[in-house]
Amino acid sequence: MARLHQHRKGIVLAGGRGTRLGPLTRAVNKHLLPIHDRPMIHFPLACLMMAGLREIAVISTPEETPRMRRLLGDGRRWGLRITHLVQPQPDGIARALILAEDFLDGAAPTLALGDNVFLGRKLGPFLRTVMRGSGPCAIVAETDDPSACGVLALDGSGKPVGMVEKPATPPSNLAVTGFYRLDPDAPDLARSLVPSPRGEVEITDLLEIYLQEQRLGVVRLPRGISWFDAGTPEGLFSATCAVRELAAQGISFHGCPEEIAWRNGWIPAAALARLGRALAPSTYGRRLVTLADAALDHRSCDQPSAIPLPGTPPAPRRSPAAFRHAANVPPL
Ligand code: DAU
Repeated sequence: MARLHQHRKGIVLAGGRGTRLGPLTRAVNKHLLPIHDRPMIHFPLACLMMAGLREIAVISTPEETPRMRRLLGDGRRWGLRITHLVQPQPDGIARALILAEDFLDGAAPTLALGDNVFLGRKLGPFLRTVMRGSGPCAIVAETDDPSACGVLALDGSGKPVGMVEKPATPPSNLAVTGFYRLDPDAPDLARSLVPSPRGEVEITDLLEIYLQEQRLGVVRLPRGISWFDAGTPEGLFSATCAVRELAAQGISFHGCPEEIAWRNGWIPAAALARLGRALAPSTYGRRLVTLADAALDHRSCDQPSAIPLPGTPPAPRRSPAAFRHAANVPPL
């Protein structure tokens, strides 16, 4: 996996004003608000991890960056390298790509919006499939409220022909979600854009360039994976209910960097147990301990240590030698 994504780096965008969630966001950045038992920012971060990315920049406001640093640190405990960057003004999603140019250092960015939540048993395999393609790619999903989103326009044959941000008269009900696989040209292209009437350099304008150059791949979110914009009270509540419902079914990897890191083989079960114990009074921490204990028990019976994410086929039983070898880099 490391080789596959060698020239890709992740960005989580967690600045902005959060005005749609006022007064909740008067004193705290929305990305630190809870979605069930975990902070919102865990979700886009975990998506990038599921996509196989380990070098990630978290971009936030000048006031909130110290809190982000306290929450996420340098990512080492999850097998990541997290760089914290400050966006002085909320001047647009595409602008953040220019800000991250030094961090990217020529790599292709995958950008995850900090308030977007994707849920589904097969989310990991889906994101890895998206990452397997080359060139820029947007993920679209049907929505009841296209006027609140970037929207894809299609021609009579269903071919994507344009993109428009928050249209009064939406050309379709296909919203562009906040997970974008881009290419190394993205910062340069973002620099060529002018701010929209609302004063932001829009991600849809950047995608529109790729689209007009016939370089943009568009993938529909498959059935079984749901998408929430948790930047509104309704979205925040719906996402919370859905995460709680999944947790009740024993599916709790969403928004859980510890579990993804372990399933990806980036940290061993013993480290997962340690991380869980540090949080143990919480249900979140106790669940990590239970997961790690089960893995350590399985290991002593010569079972694979890394259980694949739900939706991936079970790993075949291996000989002890093959297992010892694989234990260093367990499969996702
Ligand atoms: O949720 C998907 C939608 O997200 C897309 O369909 C739209 O095309 C895209 O523009 C965006 O629209 P929103 O109105 O939902 O964007 P919002 O202002 O909520 O910002 C999205 C995330 O990016 C949020 O986590 C805050 C962060 N952000 C935003 C801006 C404008 C920043 O960190 N810096 C910024 O300057």
